[in-house]
Amino acid sequence: MGEGDEEPGFIELAFEELPPEDMLERAREFHTQMSQRRTTRHFSDREVPRELIELAVRTASTAPSGAHLQPWTFVAISNPGLKRRIRDAAEAEEKRFYEERMPEAWEEVLTPLGTDYVKDHITDAPWMWCCSGSPRGCGGKTTCPPPTTRRSRAESQLACSSQRCTTWA
Ligand SMILES: Cc1cc2nc3c(=O)[nH]c(=O)nc-3n(C[C@H](O)[C@H](O)[C@H](O)COP(=O)(O)O)c2cc1C
Repeated sequence: MGEGDEEPGFIELAFEELPPEDMLERAREFHTQMSQRRTTRHFSDREVPRELIELAVRTASTAPSGAHLQPWTFVAISNPGLKRRIRDAAEAEEKRFYEERMPEAWEEVLTPLGTDYVKDHITDAPWMWCCSGSPRGCGGKTTCPPPTTRRSRAESQLACSSQRCTTWA
């Protein structure tokens, strides 16, 4: 396809091939950065600007999906009372899992990590963010605009007053 030959509904790929030594340098830098990522259960309770959370949702929404259906639901929660209820429900469920239902194979791999059912992080962190998969988009119930090639589903939802799929609480 040459310049000006774009098909309607598609976005032209902006691709610049780098010299191999630049590719290597970038790949090394990216690997160094990624190898420093850590899972943590310890969070500060300092406020986080909502725009940062919105950008995280927007970035996550750039992930590819089958037929570009973007079949996910984002829920961002900063309401302390709601976070407390979620924590209580999660801890009750996890307590049963840790104390009654944990299969031996799980016990073997979880014990060295030292995790338990207590989830302070849910109420400590100023925001909690859940992402769940919806096999049929928004279950066909959404009134949000569908994703377009120009605007991701999350972008549409952020702009959508009904906020069925990106929910703020
Ligand atoms: C699908 C998935 C589920 C996980 N579940 C839990 C969890 O329930 N509790 C927890 O403390 N960490 C959980 N983790 C974090 C892993 O224990 C952690 O990624 C792993 O120990 C490697 O550590 P790292 O992320 O710091 O490299 C989960 C990670 C993934 C990818």
